[in-house]
Amino acid sequence: MALQVFRSTLDMHKACEQLHMSRKRIGLVPTMGYLHAGHVSLFRYARAHADIAAATIFVNPAQFGPNEDFKRYPRDFEHDCSLAEEAGVDIVFAPADEEMYAPGYASYVEVEHVSKIFEGAFRPTHFRGVTTIVAKLFNIVRPQTAVFGQKDAQQVFLLKKMALDLNFNIEILVVPIVRETDGLAMSSRNVYLSNTERQQALVLSQALFQAQKRVQEGERRCGVILDEMKNIVLSGRPAQIDYIACVDPATFEILENALKPQILFLLAVRFGPTRLIDNILISL
Ligand code: PAF
Repeated sequence: MALQVFRSTLDMHKACEQLHMSRKRIGLVPTMGYLHAGHVSLFRYARAHADIAAATIFVNPAQFGPNEDFKRYPRDFEHDCSLAEEAGVDIVFAPADEEMYAPGYASYVEVEHVSKIFEGAFRPTHFRGVTTIVAKLFNIVRPQTAVFGQKDAQQVFLLKKMALDLNFNIEILVVPIVRETDGLAMSSRNVYLSNTERQQALVLSQALFQAQKRVQEGERRCGVILDEMKNIVLSGRPAQIDYIACVDPATFEILENALKPQILFLLAVRFGPTRLIDNILISL
């Protein structure tokens, strides 16, 4: 099936309803475009777990703060469509801003507590924007599965919670982080990094791999591991740490000891004007 592109909510909704009537399972991959190999892994995963892979390409204004990069967020729709098609995507939904947020728009979806910590503490309205747009996309497409990247670990936690709390009968699938060969996690925002900043940013994955190594060696004191991680990150001067933490991925509670079946180290660091996030999930 050749790639179909829909711009209007009504057309997208109708196409998806047709697919439901013919008992096709839809796997949805919401994106903000400027697609890279990380997105391709999500598309392929969606394709493998559904009959139809649908991607959305929408730079969602509601998840950007007033001083954030909404206007300059990178966009390349033509390239996105060819990459999506190559990766087996059947349908792209790419609405205009007014299609999603008509004048007078007033309804938002918010998951309490965890949306206010870590990323939420630095970007107060960010997760409200994410959960709102994803809830809207879920309602338009009514997919059986939705696929997200582990790169945004806190987003994944909140979207799973939203799906559970609001009775969206949708299975949320999570795909591991895709890294460049030197370890940098793939992100559309990496284009903002100068060559020097990009080189400095390698301390993020180095710190996370060090945490994994220390846990595998048997270290269970998160404080000790976090101190080592901070030293590694700060060696990538002029890195500025927003947070480095160790949490239980099932609750997002801060851990003092790495004694859960899974533990998650996560961090957000700024290099010049660019803020990067990364994480590592470790199973014990
Ligand atoms: O992860 C993203 O790219 C965005 O937060 C999402 C899930 C597409 C919502 O705009």
